[in-house]
Order: sequence, then structure tokens, then C-alpha cells
Amino acid sequence: MVNSYIPNTFRMPVKARVMAEYNSLSELRELLADHHGEPILPVGEGSNLLFTHDYEGVVLISRMVRARALDEDKDSVLIEAEAGLKMDTLIEQLCDMGLWGMENLSHIPGTVGASAVQNVGAYGVEAKDVIVRVNTLSIADGTERVFTNEECQFGYRDSIFKNELHGRYIVTSVVFRLQKDGEPRLDYGNLRTAVHGVPTPSSIREAVIAIRRQKLPEVTELGSAGSFFKNPVISSEQFLALQMQYPDIPHYDALGGIKVPAAWLIEQCGWKGKSLGGARCYEKQPLVLVNAGNATPDDIVNLATAICRDVKTKFNITISPEVNYI
Ligand code: EPU
Repeated sequence: MVNSYIPNTFRMPVKARVMAEYNSLSELRELLADHHGEPILPVGEGSNLLFTHDYEGVVLISRMVRARALDEDKDSVLIEAEAGLKMDTLIEQLCDMGLWGMENLSHIPGTVGASAVQNVGAYGVEAKDVIVRVNTLSIADGTERVFTNEECQFGYRDSIFKNELHGRYIVTSVVFRLQKDGEPRLDYGNLRTAVHGVPTPSSIREAVIAIRRQKLPEVTELGSAGSFFKNPVISSEQFLALQMQYPDIPHYDALGGIKVPAAWLIEQCGWKGKSLGGARCYEKQPLVLVNAGNATPDDIVNLATAICRDVKTKFNITISPEVNYI
């Protein structure tokens, strides 16, 4: 058992009724049996969680951090990584091996397990593009269940584990397919110009890290959960009406309509760089809310609520959190 604060990149000093770590699937099964029927919350680095109060249940932390090659063919390698491994540690190793597929996801905080639940994404790539299957244990009875990529029902920062199977399975490992000779994906933003020399997994990784360092706070220095909101998708009709009023409104085609950057909407509402209590709308990327020092969970929630309200009033667009409130 662990008796300290629950890991979370917002750096909220929150505790769980019980917090326990496991080093093997049998230890995890034992913990699930011991706490049968109690609320269970698997936590990686807590990089997408906002704890609004102490957690009245059992927080489980995986200390299973190995990765291994399962198989390979002439074009690709199958890698199985355990859920507790930091995603960026894995990506660094894969880039060093010259394997393609995850370099654009460099420097995202969080564990391998969380990356599958959240379908993390950056610079034109999402975890779902490289995930082959997700291995899990049932919280109810400790049995193993494997989800194929399709069964995970991945969407934008979304999966079946956040919806109909929320709270039912713990991800134990994820199997990824990496390419031996990949295509650089450099079309997002200024990524192409940020890559120095020949694009390789390592040179792209370096460029992504440099861009992220310029725009996003380091969670080791300033508490945050990365993007706090998702970028909303609106109908073409609503977009065209807005474009008449705001000819410079940035936009991208998306499934089901037009995606508008929440950062732009928030900036137009005047929130960029502004604080409410100990919470601040980050000055270099307003999509990110930060703990400016001693923010309470209420400070973050109040700032998020005020931003959502103002975006709704000004643009009639509802922006919703990417961060999961606990
Ligand atoms: N923008 C502004 N003002 C700003 C900053 C940005 O108006 O101060 C507008 C600009 O038009 C810019 C656009 O927002 O072109 C998009 O900004 P950016 O490319 O920085 O990315 P994003 O859409 O804000 C998404 C992800 C990030 C991911 C980046 C890069 C979401 C919610 N966020 O942000 O993911 O790193 O793209 O791919 O989809 C995360 O999920 O925690 C995260 C950081």
C-alpha cells in the first residue's frame, strides 16, 4: 500500500482511501479480489485527470513497465508494452531503434495504458493508428480480455474504455505495430520546417519536442493536464455564419463538420493569460489551464466553467473538457 498523494500532473494534493501498486498480473488480481465491489480507479501519471476531491475508493498504480518485441515481418515489428511504462520512454526507445509510427507522439506525458484509453494524439497521429490490440483484466472477476483495435471504438481522445466500458477493465498492456521503413508525417502546422536534416524517427521526435517545449508547459515545472478542452466540431452552416462575422477564423475539415481550434475561441473571449484564483489560462496556448501555484480543484473548475460560458455566449459553441473530472 502507498500512503501519499495520488499522482496527477495538475499537482493537486489529493489522497485516495486506498492506494496500491502492483508489479504483476497476479498481484493485480489479488488487489481486485481484496477490494471486490469497491470503486476502483487505475491511475498512470494522472496526466488527464482533474481530482475535484479526495478519492473515496481504491487507486491502482501499475509498476509493470516492460516492453518487448513480439513478432516481426519484413516491413514491421509488433511491440508489446506494459501499461505502467511511460509512453515517452517507449517512444524514445522505438525512435532509437529507427522504428516509425510513434515519433509524432513524442513528449506527451502519461503511460502506455492511458494512451489507449484516451487515444492520445498530436501532429497528425493518434495512438489508434499504431495500436493493434489492448490487453485488459476485468475489474469484476480478474479475467483477461483482449480488445482488437476495432473493438476499442477509438475516436478523438475517446475509446470504449471511456464510454460503455468505463470502470470495467484495467489495461495491462498494449500491442503496437511499428514500421521499419515509414513515411514521415510532417503536414501538421510547422512540423516540416522544424525537422533538421533527413527526416528519421529521431529527427522528427526532436522537432516535436522542440515545438511542444515552446507552446506547452512542462508538467514538471507548472501543473497542467495538457489541452484542457477538446477542439469542437461544428456544422458547416454554423461555421459559414461565423466566418461571415470573423473572416480569419481558423478551421479544419473533420468527420461530421468543421473543427475550430478551441484555443482561438478562448483567445477571442479574452481569457488567454488570465487567472482566476490560482488557475491560469496558459499564455502560450490558451487550450491549456495551469495550476499557477496553489490552485485548488475548485479554481480550475471555476476557470474552466467561466471559459466555457463565455465561448458559448460569444460563439454559441459548446467546448467540452478533454480532461476527465474525478
Ligand atoms: N491558436 C490560437 N491562439 C493560440 C494558440 C493557438 O488562436 O494562442 C489556434 C491557431 O489557429 C492554431 C490552432 O489554434 O493554428 C491550433 O493550435 P495547435 O496546433 O497548437 O494545436 P491544438 O489544436 O491547440 C491539438 C491537441 C494537442 C496537440 C496539438 C498538436 C487537442 C485538444 N489538442 O492542440 O494535444 O499536441 O494539437 O497536434 O486536440 C493534449 O491533448 O493534451 C494536447 C496537447
